Amino acid sequence: MFTAAIRLVKKINPQSNLLILADKESQLEKKAGLNAGQIAFVKKAITNKQKPAVLNDGSRFLFVIFNEDKNRGYKADEQWRKDACSAVALCNQNKLEEISLVNLTGKKRVTSLAAEGALLGNYQFLKYRTTDKNGANTLKSIFISSSEADTQELEQIQITAEATLTARDLINEPLSYLTAEQLSKEIELLGKKAGFAVEVFHKAKIQALKMGGLLAVNRGSPNPPTFTILEWKPKRAKNKTPYVLVGKGVVYDTGGLSLKPTPGSMDTMKCDMSGAAAVACAIYAVAKAKLPVHVVGLIPATENRPGGNAYVPGDVLTMHNGSTVEVLNTDAEGRLILADALSYAKQYKPELVIDLATLTGAAARAIGPEGIVYMSTANERVNRELEDSGNNVYERLVRFPLWDEYDNYIKSDIADVKNIGGANAGAITAGMFLKKFTDYPWVHLDIAGPAFLEKPDGYRLKNGSGVGVRLLFDFLKKKAS
Ligand code: BES
Ligand code: MG
Ligand code: ZN
Repeated sequence: MFTAAIRLVKKINPQSNLLILADKESQLEKKAGLNAGQIAFVKKAITNKQKPAVLNDGSRFLFVIFNEDKNRGYKADEQWRKDACSAVALCNQNKLEEISLVNLTGKKRVTSLAAEGALLGNYQFLKYRTTDKNGANTLKSIFISSSEADTQELEQIQITAEATLTARDLINEPLSYLTAEQLSKEIELLGKKAGFAVEVFHKAKIQALKMGGLLAVNRGSPNPPTFTILEWKPKRAKNKTPYVLVGKGVVYDTGGLSLKPTPGSMDTMKCDMSGAAAVACAIYAVAKAKLPVHVVGLIPATENRPGGNAYVPGDVLTMHNGSTVEVLNTDAEGRLILADALSYAKQYKPELVIDLATLTGAAARAIGPEGIVYMSTANERVNRELEDSGNNVYERLVRFPLWDEYDNYIKSDIADVKNIGGANAGAITAGMFLKKFTDYPWVHLDIAGPAFLEKPDGYRLKNGSGVGVRLLFDFLKKKAS
């Protein structure tokens, strides 16, 4: 994982490279330490919508971000993150190693938002570059004056940024490194670093538990499946029964025998464990921040590929909860492994279960990478809190229905249910399938759209986005307060 480090200092060196944040023109005139010519230049740049405005006084760079104080709530917050990311790109273009934040707005939150956009935007995944390191980011330190920061908030921003970038690393790792067993090892390492418990079930235990969905999906793979349990249980937890997070851990999805049609549709399918990455890294952040909330994570993991022993369309599986599933498309594998995990979750008598999965192309087609499709059997308060968290971190949620009629779409001729619906409502039929394995308040997040980006969107860079980490943290933080 690469990004810059935040360095809190008593006083910013006024001669260093500066990133100046302002929300009133008067601040630029009085507080920025600019001369008359520079003020005129910056004002003109603002009129011309240049963001950031760039000044070079011969010895150092000054970047100015001006966002007029209009109180636009979460959209304004997002603007600060995005603009700070643009400033970071300019730092790297100009080969700067250090930048100091100067927040003239008087709002400490603006410091946190800018730091967040900068940390997330300065990420790179360079592990597999052996020669051409020329494109490597140069920015290493971001200095912040402690008087301009809410230090507790800033600390949590650093934690969630590190967790999000760790999720990106996991997602960007190819199958040649990140098998199911390796994913479990990575999670064990995170547990050691942050102080949460990790238990890994290997194939024999998964067989003993009769997780028929996970075992079926794994059958075509040369590598065994894993089922990883994460637990953060602080003494002063605010909740009596845990929040359970379930993450889809398909480390590679070829579609199995219902092979994904080429060209292209398989290229990014190392991202099919993005739900698992979000769950593991959200719990990592919760534990690092020592939030007083009891959280359990469940991560079923496997490849989905064809092979001599692969499961086939027409197969009937007996799942962990004893019900039967007719497989009519081996590419609808995510719901099979999640179903076993959702059934396993029942023993915790959970307050709420949230699953995250790159589950359907249909969800991605419906709303693109701009947000998360969700379905819910939880109460309206929970739904509202989650949607609010989605806005706070700008990982927005839109709700799809779980109407009874959709059950007809997944009726099987010979088993309790089949694993695909028809051409319509593909994200919903996946949700309806999962619902059958729950008996508790439950939220399903289909992150197929935003999990892996074809092109950057501000600090959400190309490739693995780490979507879900900041969302879950923000939601659980509310539960801990
Ligand atoms: N992993 C895919 C869904 C996906 C698609 C994730 C695009 C990210 C980007 C999932 O396992 C899948 O293959 N879903 C099928 C379901 C269908 C066979 C009912 C799909 O969406 O096409
Ligand atoms: Mg699939
Ligand atoms: Zn998949």
